[in-house]
Amino acid sequence: MSHADDHQGTRRDFLYYATAGAGAVVAGAAVWPLVNQMNPSADVLALASIRVDVSGVQPGTQLTVLWQGKPVFIRSRTEAEIAAAREVDVETLPDPVAQNENLAGAALATDENRALDETGTWLVQMGICTHLGCVPLGEQGDFGGWFCPCHGSHYDTAGRIRKGPAPRNLPIPVAEFVDETTIKLG
Ligand code: FES
Repeated sequence: MSHADDHQGTRRDFLYYATAGAGAVVAGAAVWPLVNQMNPSADVLALASIRVDVSGVQPGTQLTVLWQGKPVFIRSRTEAEIAAAREVDVETLPDPVAQNENLAGAALATDENRALDETGTWLVQMGICTHLGCVPLGEQGDFGGWFCPCHGSHYDTAGRIRKGPAPRNLPIPVAEFVDETTIKLG
């Protein structure tokens, strides 16, 4: 039994509605011109970001959070998922660009350039298909990553488009670990 099969029955997909964060973002945007002139405190600047506790996310599971009104997939990848993503020749990819907001310029879509941490365990990406915006399903499709059922786009375990009409890899937002178990988005 593969690891993926192992946790199918107990796989936990969480959906946390970050309503407080989303509301704060709207308020923050509305008052920004005034606040900007007033040399905003760190608290005010932080309104556009949320912190996510990932301590409960087991390898091979995904946490989905709503941030700025959009789903963000936070996945703890298995060794097999990382290995599969790393053996791909970037030049064969439909979209060879990392699509990672944390990297400057057009960095290549290597797995290393898409993973959040050096071990490659954590992958954080927008849960929005780059074709027409549906929310892809995890652990599905021909490449074991995400599958968008709307028009059949297959993404691999690094969230890179491999087959179907979607033109780009799933976008990676600004994100970082602020402590061992907390990821900050934005
Ligand atoms: S919106 Fe995902 S394939 Fe069309």
